[in-house]
Amino acid sequence: MKNKIIEGFSKLTKEEKINWLTQQYVQGSNELKNILKQYWNQKSELQKIHDEFTENTISNFYIPYGIAPNFLINNEIYAIPMATEESSVVAAAAKSAKFWLNKGGFKTKLLGNIKLGHVHFIYKGNKAKLQQWFQCQLKEELIKESIDITKNMRIRGGGITDIELVDKTEELESYFQIKGSFNTQDSMGANFINSCLEQFSITFKEEFHKSNIFNEEEKENFQIIMSILSNYTPDCIARAEVKCKIEDLKDDSGISPKEFAWKFKQAVKIAEVEPYRAATHNKGIMNGVDSVVIATGNDFRAVEACAHTYASHKGKYTSLTHCEIKNDEFNFWIDLPISLGIVGGLTKLHPLVIASLQILNNPSAEKLMQIVAVAGLAQNFAAIRSLITTGIQKGHMKMHLINIVNQLGATEKEKQYIVNIFKDKTISHHLVSSELEKLRNTPK
Ligand code: MEV
Repeated sequence: MKNKIIEGFSKLTKEEKINWLTQQYVQGSNELKNILKQYWNQKSELQKIHDEFTENTISNFYIPYGIAPNFLINNEIYAIPMATEESSVVAAAAKSAKFWLNKGGFKTKLLGNIKLGHVHFIYKGNKAKLQQWFQCQLKEELIKESIDITKNMRIRGGGITDIELVDKTEELESYFQIKGSFNTQDSMGANFINSCLEQFSITFKEEFHKSNIFNEEEKENFQIIMSILSNYTPDCIARAEVKCKIEDLKDDSGISPKEFAWKFKQAVKIAEVEPYRAATHNKGIMNGVDSVVIATGNDFRAVEACAHTYASHKGKYTSLTHCEIKNDEFNFWIDLPISLGIVGGLTKLHPLVIASLQILNNPSAEKLMQIVAVAGLAQNFAAIRSLITTGIQKGHMKMHLINIVNQLGATEKEKQYIVNIFKDKTISHHLVSSELEKLRNTPK
């Protein structure tokens, strides 16, 4: 047990890290060493870039990088790069793209691009006095003192757009916030926002203690707790939608366009009222969203946190997409709050991220937000389309079949045979395994 604890692991070379790890955790297994090393890139400069993204790197973890072509977005055609390990996600996106290609495609717009952050603090004094001091003095000082930090961002057209004092004392005793609003242009802006907020907090503390407006007791009871951006950005939001005449909703499952539209709308309404369904419905949306977010080197944890917080902003967890039918017209849309960057972070470092942005015609961050919203909407359309017609398993298992045969160690010839056998049969792990066994036991 003692040997499993180590000091200075980060100082070891990659080789030493692997040796130590395998010795202490898998009895020096050469097999594990080989697995870890076989993912090292032969080009040492490329490997070095990846090694340095994070700490204690010992290998690379591959996930497939695919393309969903034929997306008509605002009258332009896109091929969308998607990084995901889940089978059917790319196929579903491509299927939706094709469905909407001859129906006007996807239309998008930006509904806002404001990001937020807070200095969270405790103040036990007179509220009116604090409010007046903030408005007449502190606000200006906060902007002035962060002028060096905001300089480059202002040159690019962004910066601080507002600073407010927020009274939160009804929710937590003596709790207030300085709420900063920011426009971070083409960057996701986390570092910029956090630097501004930390400067706000320094200025605030200094000015507060210098001020003769507050008495000693108020000064003693004043505490800044923390300064941090919020990953919830309800005012940084993209809308994507599709529209068509009901009669154009033709599906090859045999369902009539009218029934399709009605069932589709009911499925969305169910996700709007039922959190159990909303969680799965939104998970499907995030299959599309995250894949593009990862392929473009953005922070999918931030994107997930934001989407799910927004899905609960009315006090109950609900669907991120909506559907209406009016005058025989079918309308399906998503409002996706999302904060993305095309500069900063991995965006200029990871060769595949650079490639993804190139494939997308080097969009601005605002345009990328809209493309990602389309990917989410398309994914949701594909999922609901399957759910209300054939069921999800048919398509999903078809895509998953290759994973099953690979797990069973099938040869290329065996794979072809199995794929052919299950062309129009129900697929399950058990059935595939017994077919393979039958084949293997057939005398040649
Ligand atoms: C699977 O990853 C996602 C779905 O369950 C989404 C949905 O049910 O809407 C198919």
